[in-house]
This record gives sequence, structure tokens and C-alpha cells, in this order.
Amino acid sequence: MIAIARDTLRILEDAARTASRNAYAPYSNFPVGAALLAEDGEVYVGCNVENASFGLTACAERCAVYAAVSEGRGRGDFAALLIFVPGDVCHAPCGACRQVLSEFLLPHTPVYSACGTGEIVAWTMDELLPDSFELPVSGAE
Ligand code: THU
Repeated sequence: MIAIARDTLRILEDAARTASRNAYAPYSNFPVGAALLAEDGEVYVGCNVENASFGLTACAERCAVYAAVSEGRGRGDFAALLIFVPGDVCHAPCGACRQVLSEFLLPHTPVYSACGTGEIVAWTMDELLPDSFELPVSGAE
């Protein structure tokens, strides 16, 4: 894993914590924030946005990826992702998010999880989703 600088990690943690405060999570009461760091230092955030249908709920990690892509970022443009939940457990990204993240993060890219205790857990993208499903890219990236 290519670990990122402690100061940068702190910036991501603050950004993800702030994003988690914007989460719309009235059904689970489980706010999540995500901060996605681009190689040039730009940070994109996301939070979970729930829906009464439950199935339409959007996770924080995917919202961060979609925000970055909407701003022109693409596959391999990212240096790290950090997710934050305010409780005392540092949660790993869900399976659906792992698949979406694997589309844009390189296998060695670090994914961090922070929580209210101050603890931070780290994985590489490849550790979170080994042997990910891929297709050859043939269209507009
Ligand atoms: N959630 C995320 O935002 N990211 C994950 O990786 C797992 C789950 C959200 C979805 C839902 O709003 C709440 O957490 C409980 O599952």
C-alpha cells in the first residue's frame, strides 16, 4: 500500500466527518461520510442519502465517486478514500461500494475507515475486493 501523509489523512478525516453530518439517514440513523482524494490534492465528498423505499438508498462512498466523476475525474485519478462513521466501530465499505470503487481506484490505492474513537483502519482496494469483476473498456472513459 502507498500510505498517504498523516496531515492529508487528517484533512480527509475532517472532510468525511463533516460530510457525515450532512447524511440523510432517518431510517437507519447510521450517518456515513466519505472523502475521496484526487492525485492533485482535490477532495470530493459524499454522504449516504436514504430513501423510504430503502432500495434506492445511496451510500456515501458511491456519492463521493459520482461527485468526482461529475467534476471530470476518472479511473485511476485517485490517491485514497476515507470513510467516517461517528460510532465506535470503523466499518468497511459494503460490497456494492467495493465494486464501484474498484472501477475507479487502482488495486494498491488505500481505503481508510475512521470512526468516533479516532481509530483508523486501512486496506488496499485489492484487499477489499480481490479478483473484481471487470470488462474491457471500449467507450468513452
Ligand atoms: N452505508 C454507506 O453509506 N456505506 C456503506 O459502505 C455501507 C452502508 C449506508 C447505507 C445506509 O444509509 C446506512 O449506511 C445503513 O446501511
